[in-house]
Amino acid sequence: MKIAIGCDEAALDMKNVIKKHLEDQGHSVQDFGVDSSFPVLYADIAVAVGESVAKGENERGILMCGTGLGMAIAANKVPGIRAATCHDSFSAQRARKSNDAQIMTMGARVIGLELAKNLVDIWMDSEFQGGASAVKVAKIMEWERELHKQAN
Ligand code: RB5
Repeated sequence: MKIAIGCDEAALDMKNVIKKHLEDQGHSVQDFGVDSSFPVLYADIAVAVGESVAKGENERGILMCGTGLGMAIAANKVPGIRAATCHDSFSAQRARKSNDAQIMTMGARVIGLELAKNLVDIWMDSEFQGGASAVKVAKIMEWERELHKQAN
């Protein structure tokens, strides 16, 4: 699978570990940085990864910062993107099955590297279940279109 990955300075180690983990499994990973511990504005990375997924250049995205929260909030500003913070196995599975989240986010100050790898595996292996969940996700996207129309 083609996966976009990105982090801020708080999650550089986690990003490198997850990137290698995915590449070892044969995935193609596009790295949107960062590559140093120099402080950055995480929204810039989140939007770059979100746009690449929204445009179909990558099928999924994984974003990491200190908490996973800022990355999710920022990525969700990109039209079409559903980003979810996943710090437990049930959320990682449901983010795909119920919410069809194309982006998962994690916080390097919240969970350890082994759990992060495990959550990525669960999220990568889970697929959207459709059915009643498709109606609910479609409503989110309908609201997104409506709210953008009202704003413009
Ligand atoms: C550090 O910049 C921290 O604010 C960031 O990594 C993230 O936790 C924000 O949500």
